[in-house]
Parts: sequence; C-alpha cells; structure tokens
Amino acid sequence: MTDYSILIADDWTDYAVLDSGEGRKLERAGGYTFVRPEPQALWRPRRPAADWDKADAVFAPQNGGDDDDAGRWRFQRPLPERWPLRWRDLRFLSRPTPFRHLAFFPEHAVHWRFAQTHLRARPAGAPQAEALNLFGYTGLATLACAQAGAKVTHVDASKKAIGMARDNQTEAGLADAPIRWIADDALTFVRREGRRGRRYDLIILDPPKYGRGPNGEVWRLEEGLGALLDACAAILAPGGAVIVTVYAVRLSALSLAAAARDAFGDDGAWETGEMCLPHAHDDRLLSTAIFARASGLAGASPP
Ligand SMILES: C[S@@+](CC[C@H](N)C(=O)[O-])C[C@H]1O[C@@H](n2cnc3c(N)ncnc32)[C@H](O)[C@@H]1O
Repeated sequence: MTDYSILIADDWTDYAVLDSGEGRKLERAGGYTFVRPEPQALWRPRRPAADWDKADAVFAPQNGGDDDDAGRWRFQRPLPERWPLRWRDLRFLSRPTPFRHLAFFPEHAVHWRFAQTHLRARPAGAPQAEALNLFGYTGLATLACAQAGAKVTHVDASKKAIGMARDNQTEAGLADAPIRWIADDALTFVRREGRRGRRYDLIILDPPKYGRGPNGEVWRLEEGLGALLDACAAILAPGGAVIVTVYAVRLSALSLAAAARDAFGDDGAWETGEMCLPHAHDDRLLSTAIFARASGLAGASPP
C-alpha cells in the first residue's frame, strides 16, 4: 500500500508565496519580491494589484508562461547578484537565474526533513551514512544531508550548478563536510557506481523533464526514468531510503510511485503525492511537483 500525501513546505521564514493567480506567483525571498510564471495558478490573484506592481523583479516568459523556461528578468530596482537565505539553520544563497528560478526549489524542503530524519536514525556504532543526490542543482538537499552527518555524493551535469552548490557549502559553514562534487551524467554515474559495488543509504533524485550530461548524453524523463530507478535500486543499501521528485511532466503521483516500487520493491513505507507551497495570507496551496519516497527498503544484495 502506498500512502497518498499532500506535503506542505510550511517551515520557511525567509521565503513565502505572497499571492498567486492568472498563471503567475508573487514571492518573497529574503528582503526581495519576485513575480514568476506559475502554470498551476489558474485562479484569480487575491492581493491588490499594487502589491504585484511593486515586486523587485519580474520574469517575463517568452512563450506565455507554460513550462518552458525561456524568458528574461526585468528588474524594477537594482538587486545584489546574490543574497543569503536560511531554511531552518541551513544558510544558502539565492539569486535570479537565467532559467527563471531563484537558485532553489522551496517545496523541496519537505524532503530535506525526511532525509535528515532517515540519516540521523542510525543505530549506534553503524558506519557513517552515505547519501547520493542526483541532479543536485545548487546542493541544498546535499547540504541538508551533510548537516545530518552523512557523507554525500552530489552529481550534476552542470559545472556552473556545482559551482553554485559549492558556494552554498561555504555559506552553510559546511566547508569541511565530506561532500564529493561530481560533474557527470546521472545515469552513467549510477551505473558506474553499480559496477564498483558501491552502496548508498539514501538516494535523492530530482530529474528534469529534459537535460544533457556533460558529454552530450540526452536525458528525457519519460524514456529514462525506469532505467535510472533500476540503476539506483542496484546501489541502495539494505534498509535504505529513496526520494524521487518530478516536475512539469504529465505523470500522476500514483504512476511515479508504481514505477519506483517496481524498481525498489514493496518493502518499506511508501508514500506518494504532491509537494505544495502554502500562501502567506490565505489557505490556498500551490502544488508544484509530485513525489514518491520510502524508507526501510530491502536494498540491493551485497556486491
Ligand atoms: C534539479 S534538476 C531540475 C528539476 C527541477 N526541480 C525541475 O524544475 O524540473 C536540474 C538539474 O539537473 C541537472 N541535469 C540535467 N541533465 C542532467 C544529467 N543528464 N545528468 C546529471 N544532471 C543533469 C541540471 O544541470 C540541473 O542542475
């Protein structure tokens, strides 16, 4: 049985959705406010237009605000290149990126807590936990795992994203944490780890709809997800946990969970559903992604 959950990222103080509607959202990240496209916001905004008009920066999409990332920022007042934010006691840097993002996905916080709880729940005397973060982007899940005392392997195809993640490592005060930063294609890396007989206690995957490895390897979620989940299942340690998230793809959370269970097996406590952001001034929820996750999995047999 898989539990269906609506996970709400409600433990932010430095980030908030102030309003949403008509395909956009108005957000605060630290002391700055932003308007970005939000295809899920099919309803009307509730805050006065003046609140939206005074946003510090607006991302204008080229293609009318669908899931395409193309577009450009219009700054209504000068902003620093980047500025510090905090999730609980994890400090990191936010900035407007050319792909409309603010260099972090706030709804992912619902999985950072899960990851930390899993990694901290190790029996006394067990070896240091090993976590693998695939498509790791700016590294917040990696740093959350490092905060929980794990050795972490962070994989991303983009050296630029890894550079931002390393800046976050410094900002978080985790410069000495045992983190391997690896610029590679996620599937190629996981298969190589399988051949080496490596095992991980936690695997986090946040695959984009479409991407490229550093050597031009093409990643398409609908075609590659099954193979990637299988390759991950082959390197999961007994009792391990997995977290898979998917954005902007026509896929039900139940299908995602079924695919993940197919790869990792039926042991463990499976949970699937939607990841949501609360609104600061009303009780609407903005659902931005789907997930499947489980802990207590059988894992792969020893190498
Ligand atoms: C975090 S994922 C995007 C998931 C995201 N939450 C979304 O909106 O779809 C994006 C990261 O995956 C990386 N990436 C794309 N293709 C990749 C590949 N084949 N192997 C490893 N990393 C890849 C990108 O460099 C980027 O940092």
